[in-house]
Amino acid sequence: MRIVLAPMEGVVDHLMRDMLTRIGGFDLCITEFVRVVDQLLPNRVFTRICPELKQGGVTPAGVPVRVQLLGQEPEWLAENAVRAVQLGSPGVDLNFGCPAKAVNKSRGGAVLLKETETLYQIIKAVRDAVPSQFPVTAKIRLGFDDTSLTLDNARAIYEAGASELTVHARTKSDGYRPPAYWPWIEKIRQTIPLNVVANGEIWTPEDAALCLEQSGSTDLMLGRGALASPGLARDIKQHFANGTHQKMPWPQVLELLLQYSDYEIAGDKGLYYSNRIKQWFSYLKLQYVEAEVLFQQLRLQQKAADLVATLRGALDHISDLSEH
Ligand SMILES: Cc1cc2nc3c(=O)[nH]c(=O)nc-3n(C[C@H](O)[C@H](O)[C@H](O)COP(=O)(O)O)c2cc1C
Repeated sequence: MRIVLAPMEGVVDHLMRDMLTRIGGFDLCITEFVRVVDQLLPNRVFTRICPELKQGGVTPAGVPVRVQLLGQEPEWLAENAVRAVQLGSPGVDLNFGCPAKAVNKSRGGAVLLKETETLYQIIKAVRDAVPSQFPVTAKIRLGFDDTSLTLDNARAIYEAGASELTVHARTKSDGYRPPAYWPWIEKIRQTIPLNVVANGEIWTPEDAALCLEQSGSTDLMLGRGALASPGLARDIKQHFANGTHQKMPWPQVLELLLQYSDYEIAGDKGLYYSNRIKQWFSYLKLQYVEAEVLFQQLRLQQKAADLVATLRGALDHISDLSEH
């Protein structure tokens, strides 16, 4: 089984990838998307989104990080894909799932799921341009408004030469509303002889087991679930190896939060820290009641130093309790 860390724009940056891949369980990461319009982007755009390119295209724990592109022009996507692999990306992923209005309006992301021929042209152009030893992968939703083109799109992606397909098992109209329709992934697998990575709504090892059963896939991609439960990928692999797992205890999550704070403040000069740590809490609250309680204290704080002091205080409080 392979587990892939999902691309999440504005949430999973290189610091988060570093932390989550150190915990273990992940085999591959996909970056936030690089938006391609009508030019060859400068190298710094790639290395800003994927600083790991400067370290051989892997996280410090050694997990490969693949650059994702989003766009609608086959030739420009192909040129930028070649640049990404020249810079050290282990392959290229193409985004056909982004639901953002601004992106869809300019014919990028999920809106292309209405244009089977364009999907084909994009993947063919990128595949033809990128040396064959590098995988060219695609990530789709089941459709834009409905599933009428799901199988046609999957066929086009396969026939254009994609190496692998990740399916977020919902339409764009479904947004992020549960459920994810994992049995649709099985239908896709029955239609094309391509490895399909199953994605959507996996929060626990039990969800992972059900998803694998209903989709027939062997590989999973985790997004929000990996932020809600930072040890999820490792837990899923443990669960499958010996039938048991133990969710990461809250004090350990607090230590991670403090480590992330050090990284973020040093790495990005604290610019995004307050927003990012609060955004992370919005996911942690889904799996840890302790996060809900602590968030009430953090909610109104803005300064990095105050936020860190609150996190540190929470950890010290737990240590004091365990000593008495
Ligand atoms: C905040 C956020 C940002 C995302 N950014 C991207 C992105 O840049 N590229 C992409 O292909 N998918 C993106 N996604 C979709 C996720 O990769 C994933 O397909 C989706 O969250 C479903 O998986 P999950 O239920 O495990 O979270 C994003 C999702 C969220 C919530």
